[in-house]
Amino acid sequence: MGAKKYLTIVMLMGICMQFLCACEKKQTDIPQKVQVGVAFYNQSDIFLNELIGCLKEQLGTFENDSFEVTMMVRDAAGSQRTQEDQVEELLTMGCNVLCVNLVDRADPSEIIDLARDNDVPIIFFNREPVAKDMQQWDKLYYVGADAKQSGVLQGEMAADLIKENHRIDRNNDGKIQYVVLEGESGHQDTIIRTESAVDTIKNSGIELEKLECGIANWDRAQAQNRMQQMIGQYPNQIELVLANNDAMALGAIDAYEKLNYTESAFPVFFGIDGTKVGLEAVMNSKLSGTVYNDKEGQAAAMAKLAVALVTGKGMDSLVFENEKYIYLSYFKITDDNISRFIQDEDF
Ligand code: GAL
Ligand code: CA
Repeated sequence: MGAKKYLTIVMLMGICMQFLCACEKKQTDIPQKVQVGVAFYNQSDIFLNELIGCLKEQLGTFENDSFEVTMMVRDAAGSQRTQEDQVEELLTMGCNVLCVNLVDRADPSEIIDLARDNDVPIIFFNREPVAKDMQQWDKLYYVGADAKQSGVLQGEMAADLIKENHRIDRNNDGKIQYVVLEGESGHQDTIIRTESAVDTIKNSGIELEKLECGIANWDRAQAQNRMQQMIGQYPNQIELVLANNDAMALGAIDAYEKLNYTESAFPVFFGIDGTKVGLEAVMNSKLSGTVYNDKEGQAAAMAKLAVALVTGKGMDSLVFENEKYIYLSYFKITDDNISRFIQDEDF
């Protein structure tokens, strides 16, 4: 090789090196972007609206000058088919992580296939897929809470109050006549909450008599309707109302108010969630107690996990059960501790 040719090659290599270094530098300078696609089952659900509000806040805490976090939300309005289309749309729009609150928790396959084809991980939340579906792919996670715990805590609060206040047994027959207002059938939080709340009260030595169980799909207006029917069927006989969530407990109270019952003739009511209005009702002593569904904790875990899945950093700071599940604890809210929460919630 001639000296001239050798020099040209060396110069060219130098230029290439410079170019490569520039590219590499530029790549680390590019702001990293986490695009979170959120798909949820129904906008009319009060608890979920509050949870998604918390998620937006939590994701915001990860943003800085060189790190962008966006969140796109889609409401499936109760249709699984719509949700599948929305997930496809979120993926087309460039989301690199999905948070999915399934409409039908037993039917996630289509959504899992879409995500897997695009190699985009899914964090399911609040509506827990069945265990075998969670095994369909290794990039599936779940963030939520243990349904059984919420029922047990609701049952403990009810048992304590019944033992403390003998007037709850209005007809003095030594038994507590009760009704249950239930969420959607087939939802993990419906079957398990009802069962464990009732079992806990019975195991504490209180005798219960079930009058009726009514489905009201987590919804205040449906619960009011169902409750009005029950009151008609069992006038002045209901002593305890267990509701699978606060919205339905409040619907039950609405029914008594609508029928012009005086407060002294009301049964006692228990909810679950600790929504803004739920906490207010505990504060005003309309609701005897609620179980706090830790939306702040769930949102913080989802945000951390979403960022970790995209950036590959921060996974070790999360505590998983069975490698895929994050469960946040529930806790009781009654007269005794409500003032602490009201302050925190900035009423
Ligand atoms: C439950 C919550 C209900 C409702 C439901 C929707 O955890 O207590 O209020 O939001 O999730 O899946
Ligand atoms: Ca009684």
